[in-house]
Amino acid sequence: MSDKIPLAIIGCGIIGESHIRGYVDNPLVEVAAICDIDEARLDFIGDKYGITRRFTHIGRLLLEKDIAAVDVCLHNNLHAPVSIAAMEAGKDVYCEKPMAGTYADALAMEEARQCTGRRLHIQLGLLYNDETKAARRLIEAGRLGRLYHMRSYGYRRRGRPYVDGYATKEFVNMTTAGGGALFDMGVYHISQLLYLTGVPKLERVTGQTYAEIAMDEERRKISGFNVEELGCGFAFYENGLTMDILESWAIHARPFPSSILCGSLGGITLSPLTLHTREQDMESDLAVDLKAMNYLDHTVYADAAFYDNSQQHWAHVLAGNCPQIETARIALETQKVQEGIFMAAQLGREVSAEEIAARSVSRALEIPNLAL
Ligand SMILES: NC(=O)c1ccc[n+]([C@@H]2O[C@H](COP(=O)([O-])OP(=O)(O)OC[C@H]3O[C@@H](n4cnc5c(N)ncnc54)[C@H](O)[C@@H]3O)[C@@H](O)[C@H]2O)c1
Repeated sequence: MSDKIPLAIIGCGIIGESHIRGYVDNPLVEVAAICDIDEARLDFIGDKYGITRRFTHIGRLLLEKDIAAVDVCLHNNLHAPVSIAAMEAGKDVYCEKPMAGTYADALAMEEARQCTGRRLHIQLGLLYNDETKAARRLIEAGRLGRLYHMRSYGYRRRGRPYVDGYATKEFVNMTTAGGGALFDMGVYHISQLLYLTGVPKLERVTGQTYAEIAMDEERRKISGFNVEELGCGFAFYENGLTMDILESWAIHARPFPSSILCGSLGGITLSPLTLHTREQDMESDLAVDLKAMNYLDHTVYADAAFYDNSQQHWAHVLAGNCPQIETARIALETQKVQEGIFMAAQLGREVSAEEIAARSVSRALEIPNLAL
């Protein structure tokens, strides 16, 4: 018998398959079972990767005693009920981003984590980038001084899922996804900045969302497209720190520059990673050799490999090799500011963090194959 930690994948679509591929050569964990409500897809993936334990019923999979953890790779409004049921069944949970379809659902997941004492990990892919690691070092070394502003920018000129070609229709309607560009790509950029600034406390948010660019009408109809293709926001955090947000799936504009962090002594452009400072009265833009940094980290520091990417990190956490990055806390705060933008757009005014928490409601879906 293998001594690898047995995991199960719930939802074997595009990202579920990518999780399976990500674990194939992992010496610590193995995909012992898979689950999908679509039997044809389940068998296709099971046959392709030689996985024989297959379930169409999530509740039945969760009864399997040997399965230590599950990866929830379902659409956003299914994340909370399945993750919570899995933690209550004694499983550790790796859930895809965004944490859930609303702040209320994400909070319910965090509360279940605390109640059950299980581990909950959210896929926030940019936290493991070399850019993030280098920026973190510079910030921790005090090179930025007092941080006062961050800019979260994400650009696709024409890249709405499904209606512009990639991925499934469940990405672009409120029923299954709960949000568009802000949930899809914005979650990466916002969570990266919140992580780098120590997850500051949100005070208030304003913003607007848009869906104006023409699309294939047949695909609009099939998908019920009703989410934002462009989200803009301005958020106030504690200690005078602010964040402006611009996240696009589709816009008639040139590419946006990358996300930035601004401090009293220096600033950082995240891509390509640059430290902007004044050295001996000379305005300086310091380029960082990330390849050399990565090489040095992996040859000199034993724990660098624990943080190579989200799945590697999760496997090392499950194996007890390293402390877990607090991805659930970072994802919950990301969800809060995103929901603040949706609320501000709806109400036509700024909203406080307390109001976001009080007004947020669950949009979690009834899941036919969860209860036994
Ligand atoms: N596609 C991407 O590039 C990508 C990237 C990062 C994160 N994600 C996230 O991953 C999640 C899934 O996205 P995706 O692109 O893989 O979607 P997808 O539509 O390709 O796959 C979803 C799968 O879930 C299955 N499913 C639906 N309801 C189910 C149920 N009740 N029980 C079991 N299986 C069920 C479907 O049959 C399908 O195979 C989303 O939260 C998304 O935000 C996707």
